[in-house]
Amino acid sequence: MTPSPASPIAAEPSDALDALRAHFPILASKTYFNACSYGPLSVEVEAALHEYMKIRHEQGARWDIYVEKAENTRRMLGELLCCDPDDVSISTSVSQSLNTLLSAFQFDGPRRDIVTTDFDFPTTAQILLAQEGRGAKVKRVEADESGTALRMAQFDELIDDQTLLVQVPLVCYRNGVWTDIDPIVELAHARGAMVLVDAYQAIGTRAYDVSASGADFLVGGCTKYLLAGAGTGFMYVRDAQGNGLQPVATGWFAQANPYAMDIYHHEPHDTARRFEAGTPNAVGLFAAEAGLKLLLDVGMETVGANVKAVTDGIKAMIDRNGWHLVTPNDHHGAMLAIRSNDAPKLVERLDARDVILTERDNNIRVAPHFYNNAADVEKLEFALRAESALLPNL
Ligand SMILES: Cc1ncc(COP(=O)(O)O)c(C=O)c1O
Repeated sequence: MTPSPASPIAAEPSDALDALRAHFPILASKTYFNACSYGPLSVEVEAALHEYMKIRHEQGARWDIYVEKAENTRRMLGELLCCDPDDVSISTSVSQSLNTLLSAFQFDGPRRDIVTTDFDFPTTAQILLAQEGRGAKVKRVEADESGTALRMAQFDELIDDQTLLVQVPLVCYRNGVWTDIDPIVELAHARGAMVLVDAYQAIGTRAYDVSASGADFLVGGCTKYLLAGAGTGFMYVRDAQGNGLQPVATGWFAQANPYAMDIYHHEPHDTARRFEAGTPNAVGLFAAEAGLKLLLDVGMETVGANVKAVTDGIKAMIDRNGWHLVTPNDHHGAMLAIRSNDAPKLVERLDARDVILTERDNNIRVAPHFYNNAADVEKLEFALRAESALLPNL
């Protein structure tokens, strides 16, 4: 099933793409553009979940296998992010990873500001705001009047010698905007601040090298483009072995030896494992391992090329119908937002036409992945034309 990355599959009819589509049974009956919310179930992930059940029925508990799944997941996340697996911690959600990370910071010194943005996902924004109870001060870079770009000059105004952390979502969950983090990382580091990237909407949609990004921390999860399902998050921690950060939100799976059962000492692991906590989510890890393997077998070059081909097709479709693409044409992730008069109603109507997608801010969010093809775009166009009363023209 492994297509050569040297010859990416275009979003045109092709046997190779059909073979990939066959891994996702839902694609036979639905036009699935919902990866920004929840990736589709593959036969591999389904089989992994059955395997978990089978082990439970036949062998009871197999902690050794659960740990093996966690380590395989960590190794593949390292491959996906182009980093050392020892710099990857596994959690149950972005929220858990963030809370653990922030517990390693103190907000009572000269650096207590957190600079964040109008593009934040709510959980990120809320967890950062919660740190104000510990002495942090949250400052926010605003979106410009278009709502689809951050006012980049504000990073320069807000980041100073009191800034501890700058948080940026790589791709905004509302509108699909891909923010160029390079100048932000450069500025923050020049002023002594660290950078946290929420990459949930970006990782898995194209090749990405976190080591080269300069980010100090990056969080994401396996529910969406990593094709696993809910219950597995992760965090990259740059130089986990050398950075000296010690989270106080912790647990026995964060210890150097979780099985020491030592209640008299707290000995955190020297790798990013110390940002973990309690019993791993075994079910989630069976799914995460299978989803990641599928994605890496397809290959991130191919994934990126297909996502680009399909998003290009969707943009052309929006253009020829005179609809309003909210997402900027030139810097976006896998998701595109289209303006609607009544997005909740449009989502419902499209669902009745077997087109699955979601909405935010009165825009529908069209979120393809490598498995979508030109026929999916045609079906979307057909359904949108039938509901065009809910789509304002430019
Ligand atoms: C950018 C982003 N961050 C975070 C989350 C969710 O985080 P959690 O795993 O804590 O539910 C989402 C989910 O939609 C998201 O899109």
